[in-house]
Amino acid sequence: MGQWGLIRFMGCISLFVLLLPEACKAGVQYVGTIYPGCQGSQMTWINLNGLFLISNSSNFAFGFSTTQDATQFMLVVVHTGSSKVIWSANRGSPVSSSDKFIFGEDGKVSLQKGDAVVWTADTGGKRVSAVEMQDSGNLVLLGNGGSVLWQSFRHPTDTLISNQDFVDGMKLVSDPNPNKLTHILEIKSGYMILSADFQTPQPYWSIQKESRMIINKDGGKVAVASLSGNSWRFYDGNKVFLSQFIFSDSSDANGTWIAVLGNDGFISFYNLDDGGSDSQTKIPSDPCSRPEPCDAHYVCSGNNVCQCPLGLSNRPNCQTEVVSSCDGSTELVSAGDRLNYFALGFVPPSSRTDLEGCKSACHDNCSCLAFFFQSSSGNCFLFSDIGSFQNSHAGSSFVAYIKVSSDGGSGSNAGGDGSGKKSFPIVVIIVIGTLIVICGLLYMAFRYHRKKKKMLESPHYISEDDNFLEILSGMPIRFSYRDLQTATNNFSVKLGQGGFGSVYQGALPDGTQLAVKKLEGIGAKDDCFSTRRSLLVCISTLPFLFGFHEMEDLSAKALQSDTNTYMLIKEEVRKVVSKGKAAGVLRLVFHDAGTFEMDGNSGGMNGSIVYELERPENSGLKKSLKAYMIAVAGAEAVSVCGGPTIPVQLGRLDSLEPDAEGQLPQESLDAPGLKQSFKRKGLSTQELVALSGAHTLGSKGFGSPFVFDNSYYKILLEKPWKSSGGMSSMVGLPSDHALVEDDECLRWIKKYADNQNMFFDDFKKAYIKLVNSGARWKSL
Ligand code: HEM
Repeated sequence: MGQWGLIRFMGCISLFVLLLPEACKAGVQYVGTIYPGCQGSQMTWINLNGLFLISNSSNFAFGFSTTQDATQFMLVVVHTGSSKVIWSANRGSPVSSSDKFIFGEDGKVSLQKGDAVVWTADTGGKRVSAVEMQDSGNLVLLGNGGSVLWQSFRHPTDTLISNQDFVDGMKLVSDPNPNKLTHILEIKSGYMILSADFQTPQPYWSIQKESRMIINKDGGKVAVASLSGNSWRFYDGNKVFLSQFIFSDSSDANGTWIAVLGNDGFISFYNLDDGGSDSQTKIPSDPCSRPEPCDAHYVCSGNNVCQCPLGLSNRPNCQTEVVSSCDGSTELVSAGDRLNYFALGFVPPSSRTDLEGCKSACHDNCSCLAFFFQSSSGNCFLFSDIGSFQNSHAGSSFVAYIKVSSDGGSGSNAGGDGSGKKSFPIVVIIVIGTLIVICGLLYMAFRYHRKKKKMLESPHYISEDDNFLEILSGMPIRFSYRDLQTATNNFSVKLGQGGFGSVYQGALPDGTQLAVKKLEGIGAKDDCFSTRRSLLVCISTLPFLFGFHEMEDLSAKALQSDTNTYMLIKEEVRKVVSKGKAAGVLRLVFHDAGTFEMDGNSGGMNGSIVYELERPENSGLKKSLKAYMIAVAGAEAVSVCGGPTIPVQLGRLDSLEPDAEGQLPQESLDAPGLKQSFKRKGLSTQELVALSGAHTLGSKGFGSPFVFDNSYYKILLEKPWKSSGGMSSMVGLPSDHALVEDDECLRWIKKYADNQNMFFDDFKKAYIKLVNSGARWKSL
């Protein structure tokens, strides 16, 4: 091959390389499409909140999303503006932060948990050549030549979105409710029905019985349902428009809506263009016509009031005590008058008979738990699972009987000698238990009193206020400056010089050898020990400097990121984050995480606040230890004050140096300035408004200082600082006042003032984003 031939060959190779689709990289978000050879876990894209593929319009994204348990993740399609998940791959089988989504070179698309596959797209064995996140919210797997092999719109989970056809054979399944019951929406033989997924499904709503339907053509059989603007439209197999259900007023007619089958049994409608706000219209309209508005065999009336039915009211805890209806002796008791059951209008009777015949049918059928009998028709309905009863104020044409255990009778009624004999040991146990508790309390009070006395006498006494998180088990021991001075013989033997200061040799009275780093030149003018606060800084850095790993039991475990460790840490943190400390703790989170700047990827939630306590903006903040602990403590502070439960991811690394100065927004900024500052941190205007709602805690006059609610927004709208004087003129910071003067912020303020749930939801998401921004993780 001549010289030109070689150059041409090399040229072809480089062109080929350029045209080859690129394999996915950590931290990179792909637009529109990804190609084979792309794999990664939630950790790989953690700085993108786990979302690695975004649609061209940026409205929808595909990737990992956290669950209530911060260590568990789902692979989802999410609407970016409202953060509503519209499809998920692995409901019920969440994965850990290191489990991988794999789009292999072999064209297979799957999600793995360790070595096991928890989800794969069934493409009929065909090779996938591209995965596309479309602007409609549809995730599409394409084969050679662009043919569609699989699409999420054909495999919905609990959500339908505008322009997604729901057709015969498809199902929406809700998440399980606390009793593990799921609800199902499906089209069956021309009817669209909602059912409780008991062993034998029990329907509770059908399109034919929905009085709010607007009929376009009578008599047709439903084959397709599709959301379009503010209505849900139903068509027959030839796409003839049969009827529609309008769930919102016409002002929302052009919005992108989703219908979600919730674990409460309702279908609810949310407008994605309006931040995911709820239309308030629900299916079914009567809350008591759902399967379990109350627990099994409780009676639902009015707006979800639950009562024990009369027939069970004298049994302990209103229980039937029929564990398995096939074991033990049972009897049938009348449940009471005026009772109805949601499934009666939908299921055929088990038999036609009289009351005695119905009774013996249930009695002889060991899987029958309850029956309803209608004397006018002789219809007898047997049920092997039972949800809540409905109170029929107008009177019911049914009589209801429930099977109960005949030896589980209750207090007075079950009566006689048996009950007297049973209660004797219970009384003895209660008396002994009470005595043990009283003795325990007295002993603890005695210990506490002695400890307090000892602490007060001790020269090393440190006030409870200074002891912010350090009483966590496994936390480092605190030494006074004098202790360290004595241990190092007044810093006489210098071992070496490192970043921030010199290291001195020392020994504790018990002979333990130690090295002490004396910080120099950080914040304090001469010496880090010169003030009490800088001493706290030094002490909190001791675990790094000494290498006392055994001290860091919890901290080391925090890197493990598993559920048990997370619960342990939450528990420990909760012990010390009281309502009184909540505001300070939450503010600390912002001061550590708020230093993040996208440009240069600097700052963020890295625990560097321990090096920054001398800065004026941090005045009044207490010492803190590790980044993960601050993040978890902030979330606990919110929840202890009645706010949302926020899952926080563990496994973050701590900074060994302070972040750059001047990155936190100043309180004197106007709204454009605040927006700019938050934008530089990757936070939107909506997130600025949601996070500022943290000022509902503390002493700035937004309702109770200890209650996390939406009073911040309600009070902002009243602008009390404009009043002539008194305390009301002191309400809020200049930055809070600025928000309400800005049109874009004002829109969010009004939404959050109107809808506390929306505030909680958005605050939770923004908090997670805030504490993850700039964080470095153990496996990156
Ligand atoms: C928008 C920019 C923000 C500015 C300019 C700002 C500024 C301030 C200032 C100056 C204070 C002290 C008020 C005083 O007691 O005199 C304060 C308190 C507080 N900040 Fe912020 N902050 C901002 C955002 C945030 C965020 C995002 C959070 C948390 C997510 C937060 C949480 C708190 C809390 C809880 C307090 C009350 C502390 C207490 O009373 O002990 N702040 N903020």
